[in-house]
Amino acid sequence: MARRDRQVEIEEVRMRRFLIAANWKMYGSLAMAHEFAESFDQSVDLGADVVLFPPAVYLSAVQGWTSEFVQVGIQDIGAALQGAHTGEIAASMVKDLGGSWVIVGHSERRTDQGESNELVARKFASAVAAGLRPIVCVGESLEQRNAGDAFAVVSNQLKAVIDLCGVTGLQQGAIAYEPLWAIGTGLTATPDQAGQMHAAIRNLLVGFDQDVAQLVRIIYGGSVNPENAGLLFAQEDIDGALVGGASLKASSFAAVVAAI
Ligand code: PGA
Repeated sequence: MARRDRQVEIEEVRMRRFLIAANWKMYGSLAMAHEFAESFDQSVDLGADVVLFPPAVYLSAVQGWTSEFVQVGIQDIGAALQGAHTGEIAASMVKDLGGSWVIVGHSERRTDQGESNELVARKFASAVAAGLRPIVCVGESLEQRNAGDAFAVVSNQLKAVIDLCGVTGLQQGAIAYEPLWAIGTGLTATPDQAGQMHAAIRNLLVGFDQDVAQLVRIIYGGSVNPENAGLLFAQEDIDGALVGGASLKASSFAAVVAAI
């Protein structure tokens, strides 16, 4: 099937457009980013919102190398709108450089920097206030899953955002379900495990607002690669992916995008 026909077909059957994001974490270099931008085919609408999250210092360069079909953002922002916060980057500054998205609450920041649910919610609110689209990451550890607490952990993380921004605020961005035990480990959640959590998250949102629940994109992250992406994307409530390791090479990231 021609790419264009396939795109139309995808859009007809799905209410939510796929969102596929590349989280480069603290990897790469300016040369790597350039090489990626040169070899990743950005000449057509890929049928998904495709977003690159380079390290913040490369935002401007990467923004200059992307076409209208690829968006850019950074992996974290400061919670304050501006002020005496050495080392922090304000949401408005990301916007200034042409960024349109930001990741907040990635588990590596929650763990390494001790970010609380409340701080993550404040970052989400600042992003929305600046006109950025935040992706809030939620997910449980293996111990929490084994103790039967996975959904409680995830719902508390989300409720902190809803408490501060309202469920319509949540709609300005997206949710990434990233079980900690699947990140960078090669241990992807099975499509069923991920699909169940995504459905449970959507169900939680239904309790706040039926329309928002249907519109918010819930993407999956944790060892997504070209081999497992198709099965994950086939799950009704999985609206895309936040891709770490497999997003560092244009060819494997393109293969994940093609799996939609
Ligand atoms: P991974 O990372 O794909 O390397 O597991 C995903 C993420 O942390 O966003």
